[in-house]
Amino acid sequence: MKILLITSSARGHAIADALSRSRHQPDIISLCPSRNPGIRRLASAQHVMNIMDFPSVLEIARSTRPDFAFIGPDDPIGAGLADALEEAGIPTVAPKKSLARIEASKGFTRELLAEFGIDASPKFSVFTRAEPKLLNKYIVQELGGEYVVKYDALKGGKGVKLSGEHLATVEEGIAYALECIEECGQVVLEEKLTGVEFSLLSFVSDLQVVDMPAVQDHKRAYEGDTGPNTGGMGTYSDCNHSLPFLTEEDLSRAKEINRLTAEALMKKCGEGYCGILYGGFIAVKDGVRLIEYNARFGDPEALNILPLLSSDFVDICQAMLSRELAEDLVTFDHKATVCKYITPKGYPENKDQRGQPVKFPNIPENARLFFGDISETEDGSLQLGGSRTAGIVGIGKNIAEAEKITQSLCEQVEGPVRFRSDIGTEALVSQRSTTLSRIRSAR
Ligand code: AMP
Ligand code: GLY
Repeated sequence: MKILLITSSARGHAIADALSRSRHQPDIISLCPSRNPGIRRLASAQHVMNIMDFPSVLEIARSTRPDFAFIGPDDPIGAGLADALEEAGIPTVAPKKSLARIEASKGFTRELLAEFGIDASPKFSVFTRAEPKLLNKYIVQELGGEYVVKYDALKGGKGVKLSGEHLATVEEGIAYALECIEECGQVVLEEKLTGVEFSLLSFVSDLQVVDMPAVQDHKRAYEGDTGPNTGGMGTYSDCNHSLPFLTEEDLSRAKEINRLTAEALMKKCGEGYCGILYGGFIAVKDGVRLIEYNARFGDPEALNILPLLSSDFVDICQAMLSRELAEDLVTFDHKATVCKYITPKGYPENKDQRGQPVKFPNIPENARLFFGDISETEDGSLQLGGSRTAGIVGIGKNIAEAEKITQSLCEQVEGPVRFRSDIGTEALVSQRSTTLSRIRSAR
């Protein structure tokens, strides 16, 4: 069996690792924007290339004739690589372009939920006309000055700006909204929600939806959730596949929202979704709301989820493609995980440590190491890139045990690097529960 794996990064390494554990023992043909040493070791061939260059991707696909392709990141999915591969006769695990609007357009998603009566959005409005007075009125009168402005296209996770954080005044909010309208043709303005965020990812094939363990991400760069937002500094998941701060109703509702959304997408787009549907949720005072959808695995979420997968990932991919996805095909170990990203010391502010050597300890059975922005020299030594270096994942019977495993390994990494010691600690985990209880008990 041959699989074309179009992705890089630690998320890509985790996907390659899950595929390579399959009983089918696939040949992985890796198409990768950088020479990821983790993926390279698992692949039978690695082509370092621009994965947005669709003609070159198709040329390799046509000449290698894989059984199927798997696409990792949002940009090629959003630009229609799944459509192009399917047209070339290659079954592809990733949604088609029209379905991937669920991630590529915040306005599409909000309007889809509204059209199909899925009550999971904050108060919102989509504006297409550059009329500052109208924007001002909505922000001040409808949203009471607590608002979020969302760029309506993919922007590497940097398109969302919040009042009080990135936007100090209403005028700044209006200026950013006008910029969005000019660049994307529309902008989403919405109510700023208060609560605790979590990720619930599901395998989706038309109307078949099978959920993965819920995960909590930590986007802020520094300890105590301070500093600028990053791609994600670390994550945890619990042995019961929920999270300590969530009620059973919260998790069931998030699962229901993913199901209803898969159904709405099928009705709206006239064809079914195939791939990973990643719901970014927030538990609020009176339940759960959707912050955003992604049409792919999360990074780091995939680093927690995939090592726990105890059934065959290739079987799951094939079942998604043949529309035979079923609950019993997907099983996860009942263990907890904590992932901490090792990053260069200057991340995310500067790339001063790029090219400097980094060394990892031996990784025991109850842990994983997934390589991100890192390169390998000919003698096998590793050098830092400018972005997140590698995710270290500890696996234990509970979050506390998993955290200790991860923390101890992170402390043994040699080089000009840092990581967040607080992710997965009892203090930070219980702080989330306290925050949500406080929000829910306030009058
Ligand atoms: P997104 O790209 O939509 O995930 O937004 C990035 C981040 O902005 C999210 O992870 C949230 O922390 C925050 N955010 C987005 N929308 C809202 C909202 N309506 N209320 C509060 N925070 C939000
Ligand atoms: N963990 C955030 C993301 O993958 O977008």
